[in-house]
Amino acid sequence: MKIKILTLFPNMFEGFLSESIIKRAIDKNVVQIEAIDMRNYSLDKHHHVDDTPCGGGAGMVLACDVVDRAIKANDNNSYKILMTPQGKTYNQQIALDLAKKDEIMLICGHYEGFDERIRDYVDCELSIGDYVLTGGELPSMIITDSITRLLDNAIKEESYEGDSFMDGLLEYPQYTRPIEYNGKKVPDVLLSGNHKLINRFRRKESLRRTIKRRPDLIEKANLSKEDLKLIKEIEEEEKWEHLVYCFIYHHFPQNMELVLWERKLINLLIF
Ligand code: ADE
Repeated sequence: MKIKILTLFPNMFEGFLSESIIKRAIDKNVVQIEAIDMRNYSLDKHHHVDDTPCGGGAGMVLACDVVDRAIKANDNNSYKILMTPQGKTYNQQIALDLAKKDEIMLICGHYEGFDERIRDYVDCELSIGDYVLTGGELPSMIITDSITRLLDNAIKEESYEGDSFMDGLLEYPQYTRPIEYNGKKVPDVLLSGNHKLINRFRRKESLRRTIKRRPDLIEKANLSKEDLKLIKEIEEEEKWEHLVYCFIYHHFPQNMELVLWERKLINLLIF
């Protein structure tokens, strides 16, 4: 896959392209990533790329002719995306769709604004969230990163299969050694070697986490009959958890030690 990034600040990409998974993916020819300086497409002898806003006002506006020339000179039937906080909010499903394309072009907007006519030259507009950055460079790195890790041979497929959002749910909690740290133990089931139980535990915790943190995702997720059974169990457990929690705070409001025992108490009551 090819990813071309049109930017006024190509140097910002040096570190990003020369470290970790992205570097390895480039070295293995899984992806070709090019940061292209839009300034090279200015006809102005001082390489100006922006001008004052028509109608007056503060700041400078990125000119449409420069961007149009930069796109035309580098376009190879690429899917063209403009980075802007006014675009559609980026998510994992969009990453999966973009990862199937042969070539994409990411056009970085300008912190003070760009000429409205630039919108005519792109296939879509993407935002990475409801906040405003100084330019589209960081958003284009985020999009490039999330797409690259999905490409064949970039990382092992198992490494992203369980990712948050891949199946519409948040990822289950992960642990590694030490088995016990600051009084907190890795759940026994993960040390049992029983893969059926481990998978059940992970699915259940993934559901629990999504219900608690992102109930909006649960509504859209494709849930199986087994998932619905797990959700019933979670509801029952959470009811107990809530009762134990209220009991501890009501009777022992100062005793934080007991709060550490809360999970064990709940397990005792349930099982
Ligand atoms: N440029 C500035 N802010 C942005 C955002 N949130 N998403 C995409 N591009 C941007």
